[in-house]
Amino acid sequence: MSQFKTIDDLDLAGKRVLVRADLNVPMSDGRVTDTTRIDRTVPTLTELSNKGAKVIVISHFGRPKGRPVPELSLAPVAKKLSEACGLPVGFATDTVGESARMHIREMDDGDIVMLENLRFNRGEEENDRAFTVELSKLGDVYVSDAFSCSHRAHASTEGLAHLLPAAAGRLMQVEVESLARALENPEKPVAAVVGGAKVSTKMEVLGNLAAQVEVLIIGGGMANTFLFAQGYDVGNSLCEKDMADEARGILERAEKSGCQVVLPIDGVVAREFKAGAASEVVALDAIPADAMMLDIGPESIADVSLRLERCRTLVWNGPFGAFEIPPFDKGTNSVARAAARLTREGKLLSVAGGGDTVAALAHAGVGDDFSYVSTAGGAFLEWMEGKKLPGVEVLRK
Ligand code: 3PG
Ligand code: MG
Repeated sequence: MSQFKTIDDLDLAGKRVLVRADLNVPMSDGRVTDTTRIDRTVPTLTELSNKGAKVIVISHFGRPKGRPVPELSLAPVAKKLSEACGLPVGFATDTVGESARMHIREMDDGDIVMLENLRFNRGEEENDRAFTVELSKLGDVYVSDAFSCSHRAHASTEGLAHLLPAAAGRLMQVEVESLARALENPEKPVAAVVGGAKVSTKMEVLGNLAAQVEVLIIGGGMANTFLFAQGYDVGNSLCEKDMADEARGILERAEKSGCQVVLPIDGVVAREFKAGAASEVVALDAIPADAMMLDIGPESIADVSLRLERCRTLVWNGPFGAFEIPPFDKGTNSVARAAARLTREGKLLSVAGGGDTVAALAHAGVGDDFSYVSTAGGAFLEWMEGKKLPGVEVLRK
């Protein structure tokens, strides 16, 4: 983290600190259904409060497209944040208006106030200069704790750092450090697991990893496209036939850089996509025309687990099968547990990220056993693509 300023580098007592958090949490019927992102930013907020700062939390929620949308108010999140911090959290009903100014004027050292959804203002996503200036007037220093928004060059994730003294919060710090240990200067050999439904959404991820890691393990529906590209008949499976050339391109690129690509060697197929559907294990050359591959088979599980034993670092995004519907969660569960065991034994550094992946690891019961699980979805993917993240770059010293 020496390339970045952190909270340790800031003079905080009595200062108004604008903290960009990512409180874009899953919500249903006005209730927060998963508090992970809230919980992970709490250490930053309580530390700032304990150091006598006036803590002003800013975040977006959903995609209201520059105008107030009542259902996308952050008010319910402020309540949850208060519970999670064990401290009162004030709430301003606007972002840069009278309510925000009034709440901030009345703050004592150590108080926490949250402002309404940044994206109710058009200037936020446009990274508009005038809006950024308005925001900057509310604080003396800027702390970014929103790694999961750092792929966005918005007013609150990028613009503010040009106008105020800026530093990384504790969550930003641990995200950036953990990810650097996995891809920037990892212990080799490095394995990557890339799964999920569609290869078209992960072409850049695969292309970048093929040139960076020693073992590239491909799972999920996207593996079918690779199998198809190699001449297998994948029956009724999810498969992007028009991506076959691109899939072959990835295989060539991997071969050139000495990266082993690991595809399934058997599969679990079913005729219906529903929990408990009748299923069977088949070899790749025996996928019935009317059946779909919904998971990797036992030989693939053993193969992948064995390969992980020989690696020192693992980066994981995307499940192996349709893990939401048993029994098609077996591949993901088994490999996740193997990786968790190797991590516990100190043999593997394991980093995972992405919405589905976090849910899949939690489903496998190993969410706490990986070395690091990122709170980021889109930002984690862009990081895996090898892209520079504007919200991280702007914090460099
Ligand atoms: C996320 O959930 O990925 C972040 O909060 C970013 O949200 P966005 O994709 O709407 O920019
Ligand atoms: Mg997103």
